[in-house]
Amino acid sequence: MATETGWEEPVLRATDITMRFGGLIALDDVSLEVPAGRIVGLIGPNGAGKTTMFNVLTGLQEPTRGRVDYLGDNISRWPPHRRGRAGIARTFQRLALFSRLSVHDNLVASWESSHPGAVLGRNRAKRIERVAEVMGLLDLWPVADRMAGELSTGKGRMVELGRALCTDPRVLLLDEPGSGLDANETAAFSAVLRAVVSDGGDRHPDVAPPAILMVEHDMALVMDVCSSLTVLDFGRVIARGTPSQVRADANVRAAYLGDASAV
Ligand SMILES: Nc1ncnc2c1ncn2[C@@H]1O[C@H](COP(=O)(O)OP(=O)(O)OP(=O)(O)O)[C@@H](O)[C@H]1O
Ligand SMILES: [Mg+2]
Repeated sequence: MATETGWEEPVLRATDITMRFGGLIALDDVSLEVPAGRIVGLIGPNGAGKTTMFNVLTGLQEPTRGRVDYLGDNISRWPPHRRGRAGIARTFQRLALFSRLSVHDNLVASWESSHPGAVLGRNRAKRIERVAEVMGLLDLWPVADRMAGELSTGKGRMVELGRALCTDPRVLLLDEPGSGLDANETAAFSAVLRAVVSDGGDRHPDVAPPAILMVEHDMALVMDVCSSLTVLDFGRVIARGTPSQVRADANVRAAYLGDASAV
C-alpha cells in the first residue's frame, strides 16, 4: 500500500527490538518506521533508550531480539560500515569532527571516504559539485576555511550534518542535533532539515527523498519539524502520534513529570 508520501515502503523499519544489558532492559519490544521524505522524532527522558536504538539501527550494538529492515532488505546482520555505505548516516550526541581540518576539508574527507575510487581522483567533478551543494545548503561558505575545532557549537552541528549529507544518505539519524544551539541557530537548523528532506525530490525525481530520524530534547525543534513522534520511557514505547497528539498525551506528561513545561 502506498504511504502518504507516495513511496511504498518506509526507508527504515525496526521491528520488536529488545536490548538487554545484563539485568537492564534498555529497549523492550520497540518498533518504529521512518518514511521517505519525513522527519520522525524519537523522544523521551534521559536513559529512555534513544541512543541505544540508534546504535541498534546503525549496527554498533546487536540487539538481543528484533530485526531492522532498510529499503526492503533485512539488514539485522550487516556490520556498521556496510549500513553506512548503503546510505544510513548518523551524527553523534557529542560532536565528532576533524577539529584540525577546515570546514571544507571536513566535507571533502567525508565525501571521499564514502565514495569508492575517490582517492584515485576519479569522480573529482562529482565531489566538487556535491560538496559545494552541501556547503551552500547549510550556509557554510562564510566559514569554509576555518578549522572545525574553532567553530561555535551551532556551526559545528551544521558541519556535522554536512559531513553526513556528503555520504548521500537515504536516511539520516541525528542524535540531539539541537543541543548547544541558541534560538537563532535552532531556527536555521529547522529550515535546513526541512530542505534536506525535500531536496532529493527536486534534484532526483526517480529517487525517494531522504528521511530523518531525530533524537532531541529541544521540544520546540521537535514540534516544529517532526511529522510524527515515538516516545520512549524506560525502554518502552509509551506514545506515538503527531507532535500535538503526543503533547496532549497523559502518559507522556507523566513521564516528563517535574519538567511538564518540556512538553
Ligand atoms: N553499553 C551499555 N551497557 C550497559 N548499560 C547501558 C549501555 N548503554 C546504555 N545503557 C543503559 O541503557 C539505558 C538507555 O541508555 P541510552 O543511552 O540509550 O538512553 P538515552 O535515551 O539516549 O538517554 P539520554 O537522553 O541521556 O541521551 C540507560 O539506563 C543506560 O545506562
Ligand atoms: Mg542519548
